[in-house]
Amino acid sequence: MPQALIESLDHEGRGVAHADGKAIFIEGALPGEIVEYSCYRKKAKYEQAQAVAIVKASSQRVEPFCRYFGVCGGCSMQHMGPAAQTAAKQRVLEDALWHIAHLTPETILPAIAGAPWGYRHRARLSVRHVAKKGGVLVGFREKRSSYVAVMDSCAVLPPAVSALLPRLGELIAQLSIPDRLPQIEVAIGDDQVVLVLRILEALSAPDEALLREFADRHGVVFYLQTGGPDTVVLFHPLDAPPLAYTLPDFGVELRFAPTEFTQVNPGVNRMLVRRALALLRPQAGERIADMFCGLGNFTLPIARSGATVVGIEGSKALVERARANAELNGLHERCEFAVANLFAATPESVAALGHFDKMLIDPPREGAVDLVKCLGADGPARIVYVSCSPATLARDAGILVHEGGYALRGAGIASMFPHTSHVESIALFER
Ligand SMILES: C[S@@+](CC[C@H](N)C(=O)[O-])C[C@H]1O[C@@H](n2cnc3c(N)ncnc32)[C@H](O)[C@@H]1O
Repeated sequence: MPQALIESLDHEGRGVAHADGKAIFIEGALPGEIVEYSCYRKKAKYEQAQAVAIVKASSQRVEPFCRYFGVCGGCSMQHMGPAAQTAAKQRVLEDALWHIAHLTPETILPAIAGAPWGYRHRARLSVRHVAKKGGVLVGFREKRSSYVAVMDSCAVLPPAVSALLPRLGELIAQLSIPDRLPQIEVAIGDDQVVLVLRILEALSAPDEALLREFADRHGVVFYLQTGGPDTVVLFHPLDAPPLAYTLPDFGVELRFAPTEFTQVNPGVNRMLVRRALALLRPQAGERIADMFCGLGNFTLPIARSGATVVGIEGSKALVERARANAELNGLHERCEFAVANLFAATPESVAALGHFDKMLIDPPREGAVDLVKCLGADGPARIVYVSCSPATLARDAGILVHEGGYALRGAGIASMFPHTSHVESIALFER
């Protein structure tokens, strides 16, 4: 078995080594370690490999908490302690800003971190009927495979939901369509667990009775989905209260449908909203834009400050949801929402929105390149940019600073997805 000395970590949390002029990306290896590794992909310029034995361990190495580590495809950074994970993600952000945009933030904002386990309020579980074994597996996919991992629990799901994984397998095995139910979407609110069952065939009357009994016994709410997102319907109990989460610092309640976008980690989301508002410093009388506003997660807290907010979002359903949430919280007079494709933003379409004193931008992974290019001389004096992709944040930051005349006052990470290599970050720009 070949051995390597690990020089650094890449942006996916893999150890990087070099041998025979090639880079080797080794999963499960940490900087400073000497590991034995096995290659699973060989290319002309690089190899991808898995550490199989640790010859000399890093002081940052910890025993993975979850017994499915290495098998399950999620949580690939469990062998690093929380402080090392935070440092690694901070480094990914700083490296992206430097290598992509030649930028160094004036301040590194303190990392936002919450509970390391039980944090996931949103998940897509795979279901597989294993006919030979007469059972049904419910869980996440195995690493580098389309198979569902055999797992009785998942430490990043809230414990009560984790405990349901084997129970759900038993339930589905009893249905008449165990191989026609490929996926369960989990959406958790402050007081409610919703499970959306994707079904490819109709349920029989006895199936329906089994589902009702399960929902009542375990205190969950079932929705059924027969096709695309607009086929999701409440199944049982029909009098279930709406899914919702609260932002107590701002006295805000946000309702949502199970398949609508909400931030995965509600504890870190509360801190992220607080940080974003502290950076934005909205004042009564200001006019502020919330770009990619979704259901109003940042819009309503901004409106609570007394500012007027314009929320722009690409999904019509989410704009309707944001309007209803503004109404629910008595903030509708200070909020205005519009549907627009911000990937097609032009100087004219942005100018037509009028002048903004400040702007919050929270785009999907693709970033907001078209929008930031349009922030000309009349652009907002302060921008808070929340990002789930350091690479696109860095690209957009480069445009804001080098072409838009903004200064990058600060940037930092939020541990939105502990034990995974996903990096959530927040940055402040001013001019
Ligand atoms: C990271 S989410 C943020 C949502 C919201 N700020 C929150 O915190 O819940 C990104 C949002 O961008 C929206 N979106 C995706 N592509 C878009 C586009 N081309 N134009 C406008 N909005 C888009 C998505 O529907 C989603 O609501």
